[in-house]
Amino acid sequence: MRVQVVDHPLVAHKLTVLREKTTPSPVFRLLTEELVTLLAYEATRTVRVEPVGIETPVATTTGTGLTKPTPLVVPILRAGLGMLEGMVKLLPTAEVGFLGMARNEETLDVITYAERLPDDLTGRQVYVLDPMLATGGTLREAIKFLFKRGATEVTCICLLAAPEGLKVLEEELADANVNIVLASIDEKLNDKAYIVPGLGDAGDRLYGVVG
Ligand code: URA
Repeated sequence: MRVQVVDHPLVAHKLTVLREKTTPSPVFRLLTEELVTLLAYEATRTVRVEPVGIETPVATTTGTGLTKPTPLVVPILRAGLGMLEGMVKLLPTAEVGFLGMARNEETLDVITYAERLPDDLTGRQVYVLDPMLATGGTLREAIKFLFKRGATEVTCICLLAAPEGLKVLEEELADANVNIVLASIDEKLNDKAYIVPGLGDAGDRLYGVVG
């Protein structure tokens, strides 16, 4: 497992505005999209490509094309949905699947309540979108699920991570072909498993509080 914090002044600036509690939802959504595009640029550094022959108006040459099957992008519902547009802007030919996972706020157990993914992911590179790597429980289950279906490489794009969550992933997935790409590793989790200083509840800030 490899962890990369994207060190770029625009990433730091946009993340700061996201963290600010007075930032309204429409701005929060827009910034999330922009941030994901910046993170995705780094996260796709190992995307599989192959040589393709093309003709320019002047000559025949060899360029670069994405290898088939194209990458699969999997936002974790609900908050990961806010990251999808920023990702497909950079990878418009990717397929998109969905995984609905949530944690029980009392037990912190992870439940899968929705899944729309190909049955066979053999040989696929998968990009998982989940803004907050907090306890690591959701992401750990999502990654294991994708490997069970045959994925060869799983790259998770998150806005923030807590050290506790990264440790949980490291404990189970140290030798797995997993990349974690982040805008920041924050200080810690609080007693309600929120990231500190964090940005609050990412789903609520993107889409409002639903009952
Ligand atoms: N999920 C969130 O939305 N925020 C946190 O701080 C932790 C988990």
